[in-house]
Amino acid sequence: MPKPSHPFAVSKKPEGQPTRGKTARNRLRPVDNLMLLYDPGLLTRRDGRFDNALFVDIGYGAEAFTTLESAERFRRLNPDLGILGVEIEPERVARALPFVDAHTFFRLGGFNLPLEPGEAVRAIRAFNVLRQYEEADVAPAWERMSRYVLPGGLLVEGTSNPTGAILATNMLRRTETGWLREALVFYTNFHLGFDPVEFQTILPKNYIHRIVPGEPIFDFFEAWKAAVAESAAMRTFGLRQWFTASAESLARRGYKLRLLKKWLNRGYLVWDNPA
Ligand SMILES: C[S@@+](CC[C@H](N)C(=O)[O-])C[C@H]1O[C@@H](n2cnc3c(N)ncnc32)[C@H](O)[C@@H]1O
Repeated sequence: MPKPSHPFAVSKKPEGQPTRGKTARNRLRPVDNLMLLYDPGLLTRRDGRFDNALFVDIGYGAEAFTTLESAERFRRLNPDLGILGVEIEPERVARALPFVDAHTFFRLGGFNLPLEPGEAVRAIRAFNVLRQYEEADVAPAWERMSRYVLPGGLLVEGTSNPTGAILATNMLRRTETGWLREALVFYTNFHLGFDPVEFQTILPKNYIHRIVPGEPIFDFFEAWKAAVAESAAMRTFGLRQWFTASAESLARRGYKLRLLKKWLNRGYLVWDNPA
């Protein structure tokens, strides 16, 4: 049989299910900025198999806006960065094909990534994808994707509101043996004000059904709400100052948070080693 030609070079049935393709221009800009702040070296490293390893955007949606925007942002740092957009819905792949170039690819596929021989992956973004699955599907999807990511690489798997004004994302680091849940990150651009309760509506699938007493994520939100109330006087100085003060108060309650201005001033709350 002749080898199937790129970009439909999929020998196996894509794993997963087609879901609503809603997306928006710049919706994932805060995710790009997060990756650039969190681990810029991952986007530029060239050692060993990282030399030409891809950034993969799985489930880019009805239009390829977010993949193309990431390509533009990341290539300011690494002009040769290879970027692969993966969709399980064939029409969405067809619509993206006009944007293919020497470093930008779009292919039909699922959690079993449609890689070609010799390709490697430095990071996967799966945004607003697993929210439309069942909670029980999360661990198998993470496990399947882990097979393609080089040790040291990342899976950025999370959820946002329709505009990207708020988001919450798992940051999973690929170790030699599997994923390490390195951080849970919240972001707000403050256009919706500031209230931790807002984040409960857009939590990644592994958390969203767990806002119930006895669950660590429930305790986290109770502590954050208490920290917000305790620091309410800071509100007069602006929402960013209030957000920062609440993070400092939350850290005093025992949560491992990144308190540097580079995170908090930009609206990112990074919780390391989350429960
Ligand atoms: C809501 S859109 C998200 C678009 C974009 N990532 C964003 O955040 O704006 C989800 C997309 O994921 C796709 N999808 C769902 N499961 C998938 C899978 N296993 N592999 C590839 N694409 C998938 C759906 O077809 C849909 O187009």
